[in-house]
Amino acid sequence: MCGIVAYIGKREAYPILIKGLQRLEYRGYDSAGVAMLNAKGDLNVYKRKGKVTDLIEFAKDEDKSGNIGIGHTRWATHGEPNDVNSHPHYSQSKNIVMIHNGIIENYASIKEGLKKRGHTFLSQTDTEVLVHLIEQIKEHEGMKLGHAVIAALNQVIGAYSIVVMDKNDPDTLIAAKKGSPMVIGIGADDFFIASDASPIIEYTKNVVYLEDEQVAIIRRGKELKIRNLKDKEVTHYVQELTLELESIEKGGYDHFMLKEIYEQPKSVRDSMRGRLNTTSGLITVGGIVDHEKKFEKAKRIIFVACGTSWHAGLVGEYLFEELARIPVEVEYASEFRYRNPIIYQDDIVIAISQSGETADTLAAIELAKSKGATVLGVCNVVGSSIARATHGGSYTHAGPEIGVASTKAFTAQVTVLTLMALHIAKVRGTLTESRYHQLLYEMETIPSKIEEVLKLNDQIKEIAYAHKDTNNALYLGRGVSFPVALEGALKLKEISYIHAEGYPAAEMKHGPIALIDEAMPVFVIATKGANYEKVVSNIQEVKARKGKIIAVVTAGDKEVKEMADISIEIPETDELLVPLISVIPWQLLSYHSAVMRGCNVDQPRNLAKSVTVE
Ligand code: AGP
Repeated sequence: MCGIVAYIGKREAYPILIKGLQRLEYRGYDSAGVAMLNAKGDLNVYKRKGKVTDLIEFAKDEDKSGNIGIGHTRWATHGEPNDVNSHPHYSQSKNIVMIHNGIIENYASIKEGLKKRGHTFLSQTDTEVLVHLIEQIKEHEGMKLGHAVIAALNQVIGAYSIVVMDKNDPDTLIAAKKGSPMVIGIGADDFFIASDASPIIEYTKNVVYLEDEQVAIIRRGKELKIRNLKDKEVTHYVQELTLELESIEKGGYDHFMLKEIYEQPKSVRDSMRGRLNTTSGLITVGGIVDHEKKFEKAKRIIFVACGTSWHAGLVGEYLFEELARIPVEVEYASEFRYRNPIIYQDDIVIAISQSGETADTLAAIELAKSKGATVLGVCNVVGSSIARATHGGSYTHAGPEIGVASTKAFTAQVTVLTLMALHIAKVRGTLTESRYHQLLYEMETIPSKIEEVLKLNDQIKEIAYAHKDTNNALYLGRGVSFPVALEGALKLKEISYIHAEGYPAAEMKHGPIALIDEAMPVFVIATKGANYEKVVSNIQEVKARKGKIIAVVTAGDKEVKEMADISIEIPETDELLVPLISVIPWQLLSYHSAVMRGCNVDQPRNLAKSVTVE
């Protein structure tokens, strides 16, 4: 997601744009840009890779005057973060500029059509194609800017919130949205436009939330006009903002972590977008397509990662071995890089990283490359060091993850790894058509099943309250739920500072069961599946020693519900996909525990969001 901001009125636009972009940097921060129209009618555009502070430095001696302007801070989805791909983007004539948050899915076909009409493009972005299309229609059909925007958006498939400014019409801004947020602030004699209300609230509390497929025609000194894509005027309602600034940046949530936990239906859906096609019944992961031959012959896959990403790799091990029948090893990058590991040229190493900047993972990549292995990446930050260091890979489209405790990145990573495993299984012929399609269609239901689990928040909050003073906790799981036990334990310890350990449930009898007493809460994933009866036995072992069982069970379960002290019922899904939904209760449990213990949820002590040092 990106941040957009625009202004038209009597004040200087630049300070408003820059302050607004700084407020929106949580939405994306790999490049930023502004465009202003000054009193002489000059269109000045300043944009570059980096943060808003880099942009300020870059533009400091330039002409930034003008009382109309647009600004953008980018979270790259198409095209590397660099100067030319940053927004605003120009039309062919360079008279029109535009900023955009979203994804134009059919931009490639539109681009081909425009090229045939002589358009040339400077960037790799979908945004530049749209602003060229708008101008093409405006000039070719002799339309006013607003109508040309409407006509262009009728040709577009995808999500967008855009603001368009025309050098030859200094009293007008055109804004439009579909699937991406946009707020219009109405001042005494000026208008503010932004992705959320945080850049607006200090100037006015009167706002209009644009609805999907609506286009705002904003004219200096005139009433706001809103039209739909049928070019018909629609009524709009001015609301008075009640949220405070800080809570706006967190989308109304108390912390970024909670916001990101609740974003998971969307981030999992976005991570499947363009890769899982229920119409064709096919899964196509770009990073795999380019290396299908290698995967066909691969004798071993090595996942290298740290922390939560390492847990995602452990889930990947179960998925790749079960589905694609390739031996998998999962390595802590920090151990791998110093262990003088044996790496063969036909090994495929997959580095998993949310930030794409983790030093140990980066070093592991360089080591693997030096031994001739093929190295791919699963990253959440486009153009990050790890993304650029690997031979290829796939991005998770989870959007910026601000909370130090990784939540939506984990489920996005597991989503991409699941799709990769299925794609490779199809290539290697290790899966029956029916099993392939069974998993493909079940993956489609995961976002709505996550939504179901999020509705259990109040129950989980009560569980957190009941255990907030515990000093220790044990997490158990079997099979593909064992990594979820590790992840649940990491979540709890890193933000609530309660000591917690994750174990394979069967390992209890090899030592940890000595820890069990009535003061030790044991959190177990006990969902339906091949290991169910064995997990039931493990639960009985714990109960026999007065341990307290809090179990995540499949909705409708009776057997475990009778044994456990507390049961959390989650929707049934395929056993291999359970991690995508069973992790949610543990995320919420750690969040509420931390809040109740007065911990700094988004920035826990001693931790950083990205460990760029050894
Ligand atoms: C997880 O909650 C932690 N923030 C941490 O373990 C993190 O997963 C680890 O540092 C790896 O970071 P990366 O995914 O950005 O490489």
